[in-house]
Amino acid sequence: MVNSMTEAVGVGMLGLGVVGSGVARALRDKAATIGQRVGRPVELRGVLVRDPERQRDVEGVSLTRDPRAVLDDPRVQIVVEVMGGEEPAHAYIRRAISAGKHIVTANKEVMAKHGPEIVSDAARCGLDVAYEASVGGGIPVIGPFKLDLLANDISSLSAIINGTTNYIITRMSQAGLDFGSALREAQDAGYAEADPRNDIEGIDAAYKLSILATLAFHARVHPNDVYREGIGGLEPSDFRYARELGYATPLLAIGKREPEGLELRVHPAFVPRGSMLANVDGVFTAVQVEGDLIGRILFYGRGAGAGPTSSAVVADVIDLAQRIGAGPVRPSLAPTDANIRLRAVSDVRTRYYLRLVSADRPGVIATVAGILGERSISLSSVLQKEDVPLEEGGRYAEIVFMTHHAQEAAVQEALEQIRRLEVVPRIGSLIRVED
Ligand code: NAP
Ligand code: HSE
Repeated sequence: MVNSMTEAVGVGMLGLGVVGSGVARALRDKAATIGQRVGRPVELRGVLVRDPERQRDVEGVSLTRDPRAVLDDPRVQIVVEVMGGEEPAHAYIRRAISAGKHIVTANKEVMAKHGPEIVSDAARCGLDVAYEASVGGGIPVIGPFKLDLLANDISSLSAIINGTTNYIITRMSQAGLDFGSALREAQDAGYAEADPRNDIEGIDAAYKLSILATLAFHARVHPNDVYREGIGGLEPSDFRYARELGYATPLLAIGKREPEGLELRVHPAFVPRGSMLANVDGVFTAVQVEGDLIGRILFYGRGAGAGPTSSAVVADVIDLAQRIGAGPVRPSLAPTDANIRLRAVSDVRTRYYLRLVSADRPGVIATVAGILGERSISLSSVLQKEDVPLEEGGRYAEIVFMTHHAQEAAVQEALEQIRRLEVVPRIGSLIRVED
């Protein structure tokens, strides 16, 4: 127990990787500022790692491989969880709450899967769980949903919410890098998850969308509720066509409240070049929100990396340290709308970009247009490039169809039929257009 307003607030940390090292450095280098803001010193008392013997680039930190040394330390009032993954992180957070500690976490997987339950269980014990760093790295986005936007009915969220994929897309489309080199750069910069498939396959973005949607729509959104496609299917020619047609191609996380239900999806999308979201490059990320009172707003900044993420973590530590012993805690992630319905992706209506690799023969465009037309999918434009060399060998024509609004189910049905055409050896890509 801290029994005086001058005694230091003790912090224990789980993890000393990219984020944990940034947090340890900030707590050390900004100790005087942090102490002034809290009104008493804040001290890092112990850090859990897998390998305490390994050389670290942060000195003077007490390392342990025994979780009890942090979770059960009576000198620790706030546990910062920056180890990542679902387990054992989730179990350690639970155990820290049982031991009477407040929690700060950057872990979107744990918060997306278990957040509402953890937050309300902690609140029952008079403890708070802060998770600003779990979405948007350094961008303040959780805080505004918990407070500043509360008067609004939110109708939509559109977010470029994964720094790694945005970095990869930017480097591929602007510098012509191949996928592997762009990913390596993102890993070297500390942006990627321990398993980068979480970034590339849109899993990390789906976790973040679940957290934001739970806050924005006051409904329990689980990651399994989110339709998800990653960036693995994007090819350099998609970026070229997007440019030619006036679009950028980010991995977009979309949450929309429609009369038919809540639409939740993560996938690459064409967004018009002139829009705010088309100009979010590199590790920058952005969350665009539409509310009935506030209209459209955009949160924008660095979405990953040690500096921005430690900014959010340390701010949460300062906030909790200021409020220790201040009285009852109100759960911040408490879904109140139990009747929300989800809208199946097959019901979504949007515009589409469809790139086909095809034999350069008369009648191909007419055949494909006919298949689309039979399902009331009307075309807004068609582009054909002749004699395109393919990675897998041979030279083909590439045909790009842009559609007007159409229903996803009809488009998928048409795709099935197109796939069976002998003159279409490969469907290049199908990208939804969000304008
Ligand atoms: P990281 O570099 O892989 O670091 C993970 C740390 O946790 C390491 O110090 C590791 O110990 C420790 N650890 C992992 N599993 C452990 C276990 N079972 N027992 C004990 N220690 C364990 O990860 P990171 O990039 O810092 O990310 C940490 C968390 O922050 C994740 O939830 C991530 O999603 C989130 N986040 C990351 C960023 C970012 O830009 N990187 C941004 C926002 C949020 P060793 O050092 O001994 O291996
Ligand atoms: N891997 C994540 C990203 C880290 O690239 O966005 C930040 O949450």
